[in-house]
Amino acid sequence: MTDAHPVDLGALPRDFAWGTATSAYQIEGAVDEDGRAPSIWDTFSRVPGAVDGGDTGDTACDHYHRWREDIALMRQLGTNAYRLSIAWPRVLPGGDGPVNAKGLDFYDQLVDGLLAAGIEPSVTLYHWDLPQALQDRGGWPERATAEHLAAYAGLVAERLGDRVTQWATLNEPLCSAWIGHLEGRMAPGQADLTAAVRASYHLLLGHGLTAQAVRAAAPGARIGIVNNLSTVEAATDSDADRAAARRMDGHVNRWWLDPVHGRGFPADMREVYGVDLPERPGDLATIAAPLDWFGLNYYFPQVVAADPDGPAPYARQIERPGVPRTGMDWEVDAHGLETLIMRLHEEYASPQIRITENGSSYPDTVAPDGTVHDPERAAYLTAHLAACARAARRGAPVAGYYAWSLLDNFEWAYGYDKRFGLVHVDYATQRRTVKTSGRHYAGIIAAHRAG
Ligand code: FCB
Repeated sequence: MTDAHPVDLGALPRDFAWGTATSAYQIEGAVDEDGRAPSIWDTFSRVPGAVDGGDTGDTACDHYHRWREDIALMRQLGTNAYRLSIAWPRVLPGGDGPVNAKGLDFYDQLVDGLLAAGIEPSVTLYHWDLPQALQDRGGWPERATAEHLAAYAGLVAERLGDRVTQWATLNEPLCSAWIGHLEGRMAPGQADLTAAVRASYHLLLGHGLTAQAVRAAAPGARIGIVNNLSTVEAATDSDADRAAARRMDGHVNRWWLDPVHGRGFPADMREVYGVDLPERPGDLATIAAPLDWFGLNYYFPQVVAADPDGPAPYARQIERPGVPRTGMDWEVDAHGLETLIMRLHEEYASPQIRITENGSSYPDTVAPDGTVHDPERAAYLTAHLAACARAARRGAPVAGYYAWSLLDNFEWAYGYDKRFGLVHVDYATQRRTVKTSGRHYAGIIAAHRAG
């Protein structure tokens, strides 16, 4: 390691996947081009007040037209992996029914472009952009949505499975279920515990059915699921806060981890929610489809106190004073990443762990000479990669890291104000500028490669 990168990454395997990550709705734009139909995010972003600044994904980073330039940026960073998502409403505009050939063609070309550049695609099939047509038929609270997801995934795998090996079924189903259906801060914007619990169930069922469909269409496929996990600590030693921490751990971690690892839905949380699950015989086995890898998205730790009058899980996050925070107001705690990797390794025996997202938003500014100097993001990156390396040294099978994000992009309910990119995007001109953190990442990758 050089002085500029004093982190010992030697424990990371030689064939480590050095990647960046994005998702379709956040970067593609071209929302009504070549046969794409609206998703729930097209609808939600038009609800007055739902997204900061009234922003939408209409143009985003115009990646639909600029993907060649974006692959060149990935090469410039020295990455050998890229996590992208497929827009379901581009491929099957009605959610089910006729295929839109142009939609599939787009991803076909993109995959070829990535492979030609020596970059391995990791494809996420569902990153929150449900076709609006399926929402109109009830969305995730309905079982049929899980079946439609699997059918769509099978079609995509049939087309791309000869070249794509890494597949993720879902991105962060927690956000779809809890933030989209319980807190109402994301599409489809509902606030209803029964709908949220049903949605969570059908998302996980959709994961299992999708794993089957992708394996049937592409026998060499390696299947994972991407979850955002947090370390959870009680704010005080009181019984009430410790019970709240246990509930929050159930809500954000165990509810999503236990069923896919064959342990069923946690009994304590079933009681907390008090909502009957729409279970049918055989579902639990479907949900527990074998995983080839686990995708961990990590951003922040949680310190929680009891909140008996709040919504389920009756626990709320406490703001600790004096702790460094990003521009999202999220606490910076790289140690939490190591803790979560070790938990996946020790408690869940994950065969392979990929950090499918990790990154930070800061209010970047473009200097008069056109550069974007973001030392805080570079430091965040270094600290979190060091955490991965420590976990690897302790025996965890850490196989890859996909920095969130390649580009500044549409940050959901926060619109374009929050910038997570290693590459700055000037939305008025679509000009891309590699930030200092992007060059820093390139240096780390080069140093690891040089061994
Ligand atoms: C995750 C999402 C991703 C991005 C980051 C900042 O929750 O998966 O799309 O918005 O947060």
